[in-house]
Amino acid sequence: MENIQKWSAYLEGEIKKIDWPLAPHKLYEPLRYFMTLGGKRMRPILTIMSAELFGKSGEDVLPSALAVELFHNFTLIHDDIMDDAPVRRGKTTVHEKWDNNVGILSGDALMIWSYKKLVEQGSHVDELMNIFNKTAIEVCEGQQMDMDFETSDEVQIDEYLEMIRLKTSVLLGCALQMGAIVANASKEDQEAIYNFGQEVGLAFQIKDDYLDLYGDPEKFGKQVGGDVMANKKTLLHLLALKHGTDSQVKKLAELMLLKNQEEKVEQVRNLFTEIGIPALAKAEINKHDKIAREALAKIARPDAAKKPLLDLSDYLLHREN
Ligand code: IPE
Ligand code: IPE
Ligand code: MG
Ligand code: MG
Ligand code: MG
Repeated sequence: MENIQKWSAYLEGEIKKIDWPLAPHKLYEPLRYFMTLGGKRMRPILTIMSAELFGKSGEDVLPSALAVELFHNFTLIHDDIMDDAPVRRGKTTVHEKWDNNVGILSGDALMIWSYKKLVEQGSHVDELMNIFNKTAIEVCEGQQMDMDFETSDEVQIDEYLEMIRLKTSVLLGCALQMGAIVANASKEDQEAIYNFGQEVGLAFQIKDDYLDLYGDPEKFGKQVGGDVMANKKTLLHLLALKHGTDSQVKKLAELMLLKNQEEKVEQVRNLFTEIGIPALAKAEINKHDKIAREALAKIARPDAAKKPLLDLSDYLLHREN
């Protein structure tokens, strides 16, 4: 935990130092606002911890780490428009505070800014750019699949896993691989650390789905029940279809049509609980956590050097926001 706190404080300080231009006000004010709302900063911490695992100092990969965090924040601003989300990190979302056009354009600017940061890394830029570009496209693919699934009744669990791999996991893998690249890790080690991130990412997104319905509104920082309101095909939903009795599955289809959102969320939550979804979702999280640990074990570095990464994945899988 010490390490996580140390690096998140360091990154928070570095993010504060970003000198956003003043004008046009409606382009940059949303970025000043959004980038200082906090957030776990876990992707740049992954970059830093991966660099340290392979023998480089965390400070040496700061541009890459910041590039990943800026890119992530760009995806959040656009994701909140797509998901019609009112709250993020306990505060009003950019498109709600301003409007959709402001969210689109300031998000675009933030994405370009992330590339600007990446180039500042100065070494290994070709390799970094390759993985960054590949990942950015994959995130778009995952986000489109997520949207497509809202209106489909035929989503399979393996399709869901591919969707979350793309929208969420690859960026964690990328963050880690970038740290490894700058630290001159071997191709085998780069692949192993990427796989570790990908599996942590799957577990992380399943936990995100779980918190979306079962999170404590005081701690979660986002609107609880948003996924149910938007008819997202989360793992909770797909597990309910798989493990529910015929009558429970029929009831779920009826509840999905409810117009009163509060009632819909409450009743779907009750039904999921009756089916035993929390325990099933937790088992899935643990499954991917275990595969992640196996990937990390393949890297020939001392256990003590891997501990910060294991602590971070533990923290992510037990978090409440
Ligand atoms: C939210 O990511 C988006 C998902 C992939 C679930 P985080 O939960 O890391 O968001 P912040 O940056 O800490 O707010
Ligand atoms: C978002 O997934 C993934 C990306 C932003 C690419 P979600 O839509 O589940 O993330 P939250 O719950 O809004 O943070
Ligand atoms: Mg969302
Ligand atoms: Mg989304
Ligand atoms: Mg979510």
